[in-house]
Amino acid sequence: MTLCRYLLGPFFGTIKSMTSSPATSAAGALAADHPLMDGRTADSPLITAYRGGKPSRRPVWFMRQAGRSLPEYLKVREGVAMLDSCLRPELASEITLQPVRRHGVDAGIFFSDIVIPLKLAGVGVDIVPGVGPVLDTPVRTAADVAALPQLTWESLEPIREAVRLTVAELGKTPLIGFAGAPFTLAAYMVEGQPSRDHLGPRTMMHADPETWTALANWAADASGMFLQAQLEAGASAAQLFDSWAGSLGLADYTKYVAPASTRALDHVRHLGAPLIHFGTGTSELLVAMRDVGVDVVGVDYRLPLDEANRRLSGTVPLQGNIDPALLPAPWEILEAHVRDVLTAGAAAPGHVVNLGHGVPPETDPAVLTRVVELIHSIAPE
Ligand code: CP3
Repeated sequence: MTLCRYLLGPFFGTIKSMTSSPATSAAGALAADHPLMDGRTADSPLITAYRGGKPSRRPVWFMRQAGRSLPEYLKVREGVAMLDSCLRPELASEITLQPVRRHGVDAGIFFSDIVIPLKLAGVGVDIVPGVGPVLDTPVRTAADVAALPQLTWESLEPIREAVRLTVAELGKTPLIGFAGAPFTLAAYMVEGQPSRDHLGPRTMMHADPETWTALANWAADASGMFLQAQLEAGASAAQLFDSWAGSLGLADYTKYVAPASTRALDHVRHLGAPLIHFGTGTSELLVAMRDVGVDVVGVDYRLPLDEANRRLSGTVPLQGNIDPALLPAPWEILEAHVRDVLTAGAAAPGHVVNLGHGVPPETDPAVLTRVVELIHSIAPE
């Protein structure tokens, strides 16, 4: 069955029942009153495009649409540490809704962080402003991995509560859940802090593959449970962020990373919600990233979408890939670029417009609103 999923998964993305879920996953599909099941979001432009159908308008959302580019975000975050804000359900929900209200985007992306499952498991981790995730103690040896605490289903309750509050407000607009992929999480865990080349985890996978596999599986299960909590509580799709996978060659990605990413997604395949996989610098990995078993591939700003579609043989809808560097450029230049992205994206069997990576904090939010208006003003292909 596993081999079958590897070979056929991308082409049978909707046949989620083919795959078995790990023991941590509750059996069964989404509840009848879930937004994807009760008629609220199944026909939305976003979900339609993710499923390869013809949306009524071109769907668009932005990675990191919530956050420091919005004055209303800075206001509600005053005096509250980043990870604390993620664990206060009313606040996390309010921050998730802010960019949807302001920009009229076609999806909310749940406000949280990829290290929240670590924090909820009891790993000492914080987000240092201007730096990123920093661990009290890096995870580098077999003993370090064996000593990692297990994430419990109960500890995820603040996440489920925040999602419930959010989808009650979103109505017909879908909420996208997310998690960090095992490599990107492990990159922070082994280094103990952000790094450029991710030498620590890349050494570990070759020098001590058993410890690497144990760590990657721990991260896969933590992220998988985080995804499951969001989807079951009301998210209509979920994105796995392997932001730093681009530091890997294809052989290492395929051997040491892809199986763990598959394992993370195995927690939620049976739920039938569209799954998206995104990384940066991953132009050479797109096929392998599809083959972990996702419905949609996110493409960063480096590769035009028609070329990404060619590399993927037209098998999956794409998401992306406005270059964030162009957001402060004169409007005429940005508009021409957005139109180029739409033209290239039309080659794929579905296109959800997004940036090629996150919104830079210094972005003028009025520009993002104008980009959304432009995209919605252009009739779908
Ligand atoms: O709007 C959204 O996209 C939803 C929220 C979201 C955040 N983090 C909030 C956040 C999402 C999807 C993430 C995922 C995330 N976190 C990733 C994958 C996506 C990517 O950007 O590649 C990664 C690698 C992280 C780890 C992380 N968390 C980094 C590198 C940083 C930036 C540190 C800094 O201050 O420059 C964070 C902090 C973080 N996560 C912020 C936000 C809004 C900024 C913190 C703040 O506002 O104080």
